[in-house]
Amino acid sequence: MAKIDIQNCLEDIEKVAKINEGKNLKYSIFTMGCQLNENDSEKMCGMMEKMNYTKTDDLQEADLIVFNTCCVRENAEDKLFGKLGEVKKYKEKCGAIIAIGGCMMQEKHIVEKLKQSYPFFDIVFGPHTLEQFPTDLYKIICNRKRIEDILDIDGNIIEGLPIKRDSNIKASVAIMNGCNNFCSYCIVPYVRGRERSREPRDIIEEIKELANQGYKEIMLLGQNVNSYLRVEKEKNIPFEEYEGVNSFATLLRAVNKIEGIERIRFISPHPKDFTDDVIDAISECDKVCKLVHLPLQSGSTEILKVMNRKYTKEQYLNLVEKMKNKIPNLTLSTDIIVGFPGETEEDFLDTLDVVEKVKFEQVYMFIYSRRVGTPADKMENQVPEEIKHKRFDRLKKLVEKQIEIRNKEYVGTVQNILIEGRSKTNENVLTGRTDSNKVVVLEGNDDLIGKVLPAKIVSEHMWFLRGEMWDVRSGL
Ligand code: SAH
Ligand code: SF4
Ligand code: F3S
Repeated sequence: MAKIDIQNCLEDIEKVAKINEGKNLKYSIFTMGCQLNENDSEKMCGMMEKMNYTKTDDLQEADLIVFNTCCVRENAEDKLFGKLGEVKKYKEKCGAIIAIGGCMMQEKHIVEKLKQSYPFFDIVFGPHTLEQFPTDLYKIICNRKRIEDILDIDGNIIEGLPIKRDSNIKASVAIMNGCNNFCSYCIVPYVRGRERSREPRDIIEEIKELANQGYKEIMLLGQNVNSYLRVEKEKNIPFEEYEGVNSFATLLRAVNKIEGIERIRFISPHPKDFTDDVIDAISECDKVCKLVHLPLQSGSTEILKVMNRKYTKEQYLNLVEKMKNKIPNLTLSTDIIVGFPGETEEDFLDTLDVVEKVKFEQVYMFIYSRRVGTPADKMENQVPEEIKHKRFDRLKKLVEKQIEIRNKEYVGTVQNILIEGRSKTNENVLTGRTDSNKVVVLEGNDDLIGKVLPAKIVSEHMWFLRGEMWDVRSGL
């Protein structure tokens, strides 16, 4: 697999670090979008801290302001433009360097809009040129001329960038990048490029290192994790098997063996690629959480076809059945789009029907958003906004009703909780998560943080459960 040489990047980090030494410079970063973007942001933070910037949430004192953008839906775009309006005054007042990166920068019409309406930015860079960021910054510091560093090609694999993680308990690890599925509504394949996997050795060694540093939970990331190494095998792109890893299932098994790691999660798998070996691995690996995110998108076979999802309503339901049979205590979460072009009342009822049947633990609901350059944007039978919103509200009602019922089922049970830290809204309580990713708040000392411990669930609230530490010996 073609890895990018990051020697220049590391040298330019050094150069900028020298220039910045002793100046007490600060950076702010805004991350929009998915966990892959959050993972990229952690790498940008790692690079900025090595270049002698420290983080601040106060824009007024920031010398460098970075945006990591998303374009999967229109509201993600609106967020950037709103924030840029605010940042303009700091630029005028304090001369902060403004850098805009992420998926949105791969869209030509957006970069044009930026140039016209927000011409005060200094650097634009895409997700394929992350390692160029220090070089761009160095050039800006030296001669203050705007830089556009966007790459049209698919991007290679970047290894070895510094990283500053948000948590010291949970870490995300990208195992692949890009997407080859071209669902007809989705912009991701156009902005993240073709699917490519990281070498097994690089992933395993990164996770071992995280375990050494005390991390307990690993989230494996990719747009289509269960096709890990598929393209490489299909195209005879050489990769080195390491600790038996040559597929997603074997990767789960290898990570499961790493001492110190207590929980393994992954997003997102694609239903069409959910092979039996992956189901067996989830079932047999004790550290792999039994919550599986299985994006449905629509419950209508007709709509799924036009979406290019490559499964039917029945195939999805059969897969769920098979998984439920093979994986004890399985819980499921999903993504659903309402108002895809041509969606009729009948199609929408099919979506509600699947939600009724599967009883998801969590549903991420989205109103279909037209994306320039995707096939669905060109379809003539767009659903009127009003109908989309009404359907969204109906789906939301059903989901909330189901979550309420599910939450009630937790009360009185004992759940293993990974204690993550003090609650952000209430310092007096700790928060953690169940295997099924439910937030649980409970009382306890700081020395419990980072441990997986049993707790009895005593009450339920819409978005969290309340628990009490459970003494295994006395059963109290
Ligand atoms: N690769 C992942 C995630 C893709 S983006 C997957 O296939 O599941 C996350 C979610 O955003 C998608 O699952 C989909 O539900 C939603 N999404 C993508 N494009 C969208 C669009 N144009 N309008 C509304 N929601 C969209
Ligand atoms: Fe988008 Fe489909 Fe790829 Fe997910 S699998 S990123 S929804 S094209
Ligand atoms: Fe958004 Fe890019 Fe992720 S478009 S959802 S940040 S891959």
